[in-house]
Amino acid sequence: MNSKLLLRARNYEKIYGEKITPEERPLFHVTPTVGWLNDPNGFSYYKGEYHLFYQYHPYKTVWGNMHWGHLTTRDFIRWERLPAAMAPDEDYDNAGVFSGSALELPDGRHLLMYTGVEEWQREDGLIESRQTQCMAYGDGVDYEKYSGNPVITADSLPTGGSVQDFRDPKIWWDGEERCFYAVVANRVADDSGAILLFRSPDSMQWEYVTVLDRCRNQYGRMWECPDFFHLDGMAVLITSPMEMTARGLEFHNGNNVVYITGSYDKKAHHFDRTEVHALDYGLDFYAPQTVEAADGRRILIGWMQSPETGHNKPQGVKWFGQLTIPRELRMKDGLMIQNPVRELEQYRSEPVLYRDVYVRERLCLPSVSGRTVDMTVFVRPAGGSLYQKFTIKVAKDTEFYTAITYDPNNSVLRFDRSNSGFRHNIVSSRKVLVRYQNGEIKLRILMDRFSVEIFVNDGEQTLTSTIYTPQEADSISFEANGSAIIDVEKYDIVLPEEG
Ligand code: FRU
Repeated sequence: MNSKLLLRARNYEKIYGEKITPEERPLFHVTPTVGWLNDPNGFSYYKGEYHLFYQYHPYKTVWGNMHWGHLTTRDFIRWERLPAAMAPDEDYDNAGVFSGSALELPDGRHLLMYTGVEEWQREDGLIESRQTQCMAYGDGVDYEKYSGNPVITADSLPTGGSVQDFRDPKIWWDGEERCFYAVVANRVADDSGAILLFRSPDSMQWEYVTVLDRCRNQYGRMWECPDFFHLDGMAVLITSPMEMTARGLEFHNGNNVVYITGSYDKKAHHFDRTEVHALDYGLDFYAPQTVEAADGRRILIGWMQSPETGHNKPQGVKWFGQLTIPRELRMKDGLMIQNPVRELEQYRSEPVLYRDVYVRERLCLPSVSGRTVDMTVFVRPAGGSLYQKFTIKVAKDTEFYTAITYDPNNSVLRFDRSNSGFRHNIVSSRKVLVRYQNGEIKLRILMDRFSVEIFVNDGEQTLTSTIYTPQEADSISFEANGSAIIDVEKYDIVLPEEG
């Protein structure tokens, strides 16, 4: 490995990464070693461990010339940092090693498939760029880019496909056909996104197969970061549309994530779309990727940040960007269910249980507080009359709070971080229409210092958001307009000391 750019990044990580104390980071959510992180990449099982890479700019806490950062885990909760895996050190990726995926090869090598972005200046001074798909092979620590890169170029795009927007390959191995497939996002002739399918016998020679699905300017514009898999008998395509417009409460404006359900005729390579849904209803969720775990679970991890508010961060931070808790996916009645990986339960400590607590006005419960917390609250009407609103405030002190409010009359759950310490005028609240409308709601609230992830009714809907409220604000309160009964089950998440 003789890439100067990669060595420079690795040295920088050694010097500056170690200066960041564990208390400055979340406890169990992934952050960059130093600098900036965006999409999760290369989530894969390799030689008995899960590897995870991420879009990475080590030198600043803003998006910049993309590298791949690298971590491993055995349980999705405790992560080990590895040195940066790739730098933008070739002509064909001089402007960034963009998002991609990874696999273990039968010969024991770890394969990375990513987008190379090349930029050059024309004679008239204008900058041109193109995106191609590239490979790298390694041993789980060090990777060599393939000498035949790029392996998929614009030459194989259907007519009208954009050379500038052609990225984020997600690769898988088809054991029956004994070949690789990859889905790649492209901007097509109607100026909106499409997901293209490619095939390869050996991971180096690729051919274009078909368009799996296309946006047709209906769900945002360009689609990014596709993922395609089967789950509980359904074919599922996940993608992250840019420039989405809201439709009632189902989507929100801006960068979004949708999952598209359907059926897939593998012989004809035909994906037949059934429905399109939002994958998360919070403020900070984008570009997720899944891995099939060794035990068959489909596990998803996402970038826990809205791309549009990524420049609003606390002053003086040395890292910026978090990933979500890895989530187990299932399908139920045609809809996606997401729950935190079950491994998290091993790190629950200090259980606090309350049953049948009558709530009217505001109330705090002894020992129910904290900022690294896994708490489930089950709310229901008290007696015959329906409460008007139920509010849980977390990350609270006399100055700050983050509010989660359920209105049972229209079944809307609202997350609001207007009072969570942001200094900028950013979007601070989102709403979701909860599916059941009988005044009962179950909320699992996962907090890890700088984030709140809400799993509604056993994972039927989720709201994922960051907060940068000072850590001293750690109270939790419950409040009903009218009266309600609640059960509360609360744990602190505690990881054993390192070493
Ligand atoms: C999504 C994305 C990808 C791209 C990467 C660049 O957030 O725009 O499409 O590969 O980020 O960092």
